[in-house]
Amino acid sequence: MFARATKPLAAAVASGLAVGYVSHYSSPKLAHADAEETVPGKLSSIRASLDRIEKALGVTAPSQFKPKPTDPSTPTPHGIDIVLGAQWGDEGKGKLVDILSQTYDVCARVAGGSNAGHTIVANGRKYKFHLVPSGILNEMATCIIGNGVVVHLPSFLEELKSLELAGVQWEGRIKVSDRAHLVFDFHQTVDGNQETKLGRNKIGTTKKGIGPAYASKISRNGLRVGDLGDMETFEERFRSLAEYHMAAFPGLKIDIEKEIDYYRKIAPYVQSMTTDTIEYTNQAYTSGKKILVEGANATMLDIDFGTYPYVTSSNPSIGSVLTGLGVSPRKLNGIFGTVKAYCTRVGEGPFPTELVDAPGSTGEYLRANGYEFGTTTGRARRCGWLDIPQMKFSSTINGFTSLNLTKLDVLTGLPEILIGTKYVYKGSNLDTMPANLKIMTSPDFKVEYETMPGWTEDISTCTKFEELPPNAQKYVHRVQDLLGIPIRWIGVGPNRLDVVDRGPGWDLTEQAKSK
Ligand code: GDP
Ligand code: IMO
Ligand code: MG
Repeated sequence: MFARATKPLAAAVASGLAVGYVSHYSSPKLAHADAEETVPGKLSSIRASLDRIEKALGVTAPSQFKPKPTDPSTPTPHGIDIVLGAQWGDEGKGKLVDILSQTYDVCARVAGGSNAGHTIVANGRKYKFHLVPSGILNEMATCIIGNGVVVHLPSFLEELKSLELAGVQWEGRIKVSDRAHLVFDFHQTVDGNQETKLGRNKIGTTKKGIGPAYASKISRNGLRVGDLGDMETFEERFRSLAEYHMAAFPGLKIDIEKEIDYYRKIAPYVQSMTTDTIEYTNQAYTSGKKILVEGANATMLDIDFGTYPYVTSSNPSIGSVLTGLGVSPRKLNGIFGTVKAYCTRVGEGPFPTELVDAPGSTGEYLRANGYEFGTTTGRARRCGWLDIPQMKFSSTINGFTSLNLTKLDVLTGLPEILIGTKYVYKGSNLDTMPANLKIMTSPDFKVEYETMPGWTEDISTCTKFEELPPNAQKYVHRVQDLLGIPIRWIGVGPNRLDVVDRGPGWDLTEQAKSK
């Protein structure tokens, strides 16, 4: 039933390894892991010794011997790098992960489930990922579905099949955590029914069963991927969980025998991918492998930090890297916040900088130009201006070391571009995102905007920052100044190659000097 992929991964993917935009990662894929492990360590101990000698002698070493200040956006072999969504999702995380993962050994998902939809355009082909990490397109990378993810196995197996059809050789490269919780069909039914019941107060979920599956996890009656290794216990616990749901949701019918039969059939296959991913990841780290986390969903959808209850049911912000992968915070390195050059939201809930959708409005322009339709549900995304107070809140929580500003090309052609810079409530500035949604939806709540001049030049072929039209450069500078975080990557189109990478050596002080 699950035939082995026959075609090797498109040779073109390999060609992605050679293109210029990743050339700053000088260490070749997987090569010299030992050297990577020891050389930087030795260098830093030599530097420390030099410092001590300098101090003792009261002299200063010539500047060429001074270490450069560490740029936190530099991926190092000794740190887990993370790509996170900084807004309400669909910022273009998948594209950056695809670009970066060409030089990583391990790529991991740590939270959420198939509510995520990451679109990659590479080598003339569009790939859509929901549960499988986008790093699978690097044929050298191992992909992990961490313990914090909730997995609907039927969709997962479908996704693997479609990868096979696309010629992506994944077998042996996907490891699913034995601790990851399962999403069952009835979780999805319950998700849909709850939304229907809420009527116009609905959350606007993806109906992928995410909330109900995390509810089972928290209620401690959920089942985990590893449970498929003991079908007797699985069967017993599944019956009890299904009966619990049928009692809790009158009218819900679950064909328990059919479900058990299905899981019995797929169990050996799923078990072949089931791994103690905590052990695997930490060993990979220790042996010097480069690890990249692909964030799913986004900070403003976080169950704790988002616009509750219009959120998802996990913690898609930085905390999930620790709890959803099982690594220590001491192992984290670059935290790459992904932010659209404007803002979108799919589903219900407050959206302070939303553009009202009159025909021919700017919101409609952004939607059409940016093709703002959900990867998972196909729903039209609500569009608005970039929201600085929201972004500051997001970076406070996540501690972004650098930003990936995506879809700058979508703003091309607008005569003016607005940036939401302040939240004002009853005439006073708000210092942070209010927890109380009534504030954000009150007529006394206002957003103050700054207006920037637009540009008309096509930027889709720009590969260097200096090639961007002056007004586009000004816009990027302004956003960076407002946020105080280096913008390292700038998206100029959907394709893997459509990115301006300012490189790891670049930082805000350099920028300030050149102004
Ligand atoms: P994710 O969920 O954060 O991975 O983002 P999605 O894949 O759901 O949505 C982002 C969409 O924008 C995808 O269709 C990408 O192909 C596309 N995209 C990403 N970066 C850019 C960019 O810089 N410019 C344009 N025009 N499209 C982009
Ligand atoms: P990616 O990874 C955009 C939104 C849903 C809904 C809310 C709750 O592609 O950025 P859920 O099904 O999770 O219970 O829905 O969260 N949502 C997303 N919106 N991108 C996502 O993921 C999302 N994941 C969840 O639209 O409003
Ligand atoms: Mg998406």
